[in-house]
Amino acid sequence: MSVIAEELAKKQREVSVAEFFERNRHLLGFDNKRKALLTVVKEAVDNALDACEEARILPDISVEVIDMTNDRFRIIVEDNGPGIVKKNIPNVFAKLLYGSKFHAMKQSRGQQGIGISAAVLYAQLTTGRPAKITSKISKDHPAEYFELHLDTQKNAPEIVKEEQKVWKKEHGVKIELDISATYQKGDQSVDTYLKETAIVNPHATIIYTSPKAEQLVFPRATDKLPIQPHEIKPHPEGVELGRMQKMLKFTESRTLQSFLTNEFSRVGPNTAKEICQNATLLPQMKPSDMQLADMEKLMDGITKTKIMAPPTDCVVPIGADLLEKGLKKEIAAEFYTSVTRSPSVYRGTPFVVEIALAYGGAQPADQSITVLRFANRVPLLYQQSACASFKSVLGINWKPYGLQQSQGALPSGPLTIAVHLASVWPPFTSEAKEAIAHYPEIVKEMKLALQECGRKLGLYVNKKRRAQEEQERVNIFEVYIPEVAASVAELAGEKKEKLLESLQKMLAKNKEFIAKHKGQEVTENKHEKKDAEDQVSLKRFAERDDND
Ligand SMILES: Nc1ncnc2c1ncn2[C@@H]1O[C@H](COP(=O)(O)OP(=O)(O)OP(=O)(O)O)[C@@H](O)[C@H]1O
Ligand SMILES: [Mg+2]
Repeated sequence: MSVIAEELAKKQREVSVAEFFERNRHLLGFDNKRKALLTVVKEAVDNALDACEEARILPDISVEVIDMTNDRFRIIVEDNGPGIVKKNIPNVFAKLLYGSKFHAMKQSRGQQGIGISAAVLYAQLTTGRPAKITSKISKDHPAEYFELHLDTQKNAPEIVKEEQKVWKKEHGVKIELDISATYQKGDQSVDTYLKETAIVNPHATIIYTSPKAEQLVFPRATDKLPIQPHEIKPHPEGVELGRMQKMLKFTESRTLQSFLTNEFSRVGPNTAKEICQNATLLPQMKPSDMQLADMEKLMDGITKTKIMAPPTDCVVPIGADLLEKGLKKEIAAEFYTSVTRSPSVYRGTPFVVEIALAYGGAQPADQSITVLRFANRVPLLYQQSACASFKSVLGINWKPYGLQQSQGALPSGPLTIAVHLASVWPPFTSEAKEAIAHYPEIVKEMKLALQECGRKLGLYVNKKRRAQEEQERVNIFEVYIPEVAASVAELAGEKKEKLLESLQKMLAKNKEFIAKHKGQEVTENKHEKKDAEDQVSLKRFAERDDND
């Protein structure tokens, strides 16, 4: 046996993270050529938006996808963000798991520090070409230009070329990658990703040149930058034993009590003492002396202590108004409504759900509705059925809101729903950040938001349906008026003309009513002031529906 173990020992060695992802590129969104094109653009654009917002700059982003034939594409993404300092450029682009966002408990698009270097690795694997990066941090600095490869064995950058350049721009980053990919329009394309990005980032201007050399401009709808989210400390209820162990190992606090108050949110001296008491540990205990058994006691003490929920002002939603504005900009419909829920918490992590709906217009009426999913202002285009947003839409009975729905299926009708989750740490089901995990707290919030918007939708749809039915009745009535007038006149011995006149008066009244309600191209939402008349008619219809 020992011989086999010796043999095995010869083969056992460390696996570099880059080698791991080289083999498992599907985990990072590179499972096929079409998706690869989207993922590369997405990683670069998400980073550009994050960087601009952090630097409080209104983003101007240009995306160019050039078809080089034979399934090869050149992708050039340029931003007007703060740029990246020279010494960090090689690591940012050619070292996996290197970034500024992983350790910060702060809402952002990026999380892991793997996105853009994975794109560089994919380019290298499929075309062998280095990534070409230009970065400038101010008008007083030259632009730094690098050509980079990623050494997968070491997970470290290899500088192929390095020079300074003149670049007219004051500051920003430009990335150029050659990749093997395919381009196809449609639901999961770069075009859709950019269109949806424009919906949830109304403060950004994006200029896109497609592989067909068409230029699309998504202009900003507001000059207001989103509020800067601030960083928070972890909440004790969201920390598992392994992480607690690491925190205790690296802390600079001298006592357990100061460790708890310094490194967690919502733990003041009294709560810290209470945790220690419930854990049967001494508050003066040194963190470095703590053994595994003590840590287990500490975890138990946390569970037994009532700790205030984490602060929620660290989560920055888009806002119902702006989300709706974004949807209006890209989807022509008759009726829009939106809601932003109050913040809530999953596993010690704060989050906010918001929803916007667009109903009617040119959207297909006989097909399933469209669900647009977003997390921290990033469109999620893959893994729809694995996503909490999709599950929430499915979990609602849409019939009372005026839509057709077979059991267990998406409803059908001319409806687009945008579901946005904003969180310090959106729980994705994989590193490719494609679907939101099914935390019951998140699903519950999504359902409540959907129902809130659904009720308003129902009011509108039912009103429209009634007006249509009324129209049908009027049509029939109109056809028979002369006949009815003649017969009644004969029976009653009255003048036919007089009867005809009063019947037509009645008809005119009905028509007036229909004209007012049918296909009304109005926007009713809680943010815009409705006129009083409309309020009254909505109420009347609601009452009529209740009486049905
Ligand atoms: N266009 C840019 N402008 C300024 N800084 C950037 C830009 N792109 C990337 N960075 C910096 O490089 C880091 C690494 O980017 P990368 O996309 O690899 O990871 P991330 O965005 O932190 O997380 P994720 O893996 O989830 O995308 C970022 O954290 C950011 O600090
Ligand atoms: Mg990123």
